Amino acid sequence: MTDLSLTIRAEIADDELAIERLHERTFGPGRYAKTAYRLREGRDHSLELSFTARVGTLLVGSVRLTPVRIGETKALLLGPLTVEPPFRDRGIGQVLIERSLAEAKAKGHRLVVLVGDEPYYGKSGFKLVPKGRASMPGPVDPARLLVAELVEGAFTDVSGPVRPDWDAI
Ligand SMILES: CC(C)(COP(=O)(O)OP(=O)(O)OC[C@H]1O[C@@H](n2cnc3c(N)ncnc32)[C@H](O)[C@@H]1OP(=O)(O)O)[C@@H](O)C(=O)NCCC(=O)NCCS
Repeated sequence: MTDLSLTIRAEIADDELAIERLHERTFGPGRYAKTAYRLREGRDHSLELSFTARVGTLLVGSVRLTPVRIGETKALLLGPLTVEPPFRDRGIGQVLIERSLAEAKAKGHRLVVLVGDEPYYGKSGFKLVPKGRASMPGPVDPARLLVAELVEGAFTDVSGPVRPDWDAI
């Protein structure tokens, strides 16, 4: 690809435009209709838990985490995760996920939920949410609703609707 090395760093406000363009190229206008988008709408993602990947000065990937609750329990919603097509299949997506999960864990977060493909996210510790344990504010294929425990047992006894965490700072 390139001899420039990859850098992963926390998202900053100035990254907004480049990330928005990446999302537009990857997901198109249909992204606004996704159920996960409803949880992010009007609710800021956490910049300190969201990461960008750069090759040189070029932003080639992004992952975002947004505070939510599952029932009354605090959790984070992972997504969107996006890597520019020419830079895919080099481990960048997985590095972004792992960095954001590590940072979330270090900051005391316990649970991360997402809508995505289990064969991909399973490599980073995500598991299928057992049927009926959590619901999303719109249609979601139950086979794509996944959760990762950052602390062992954190999902035990947790259930309810996934909703924005309006109290999170
Ligand atoms: C999904 C995405 C972020 C992966 O980024 P990446 O940097 O290519 O990922 P990695 O290099 O860490 O992993 C690549 C591996 O995962 C596999 N993979 C990628 N997407 C997958 C999926 N949806 N389901 C199963 N496996 C998948 C690749 O085939 C590759 O397998 P290999 O290691 O056996 O060759 C990237 O393909 C992308 O931006 N896709 C479009 C947006 C998207 O779908 N985002 C996720 C929303 S749920």
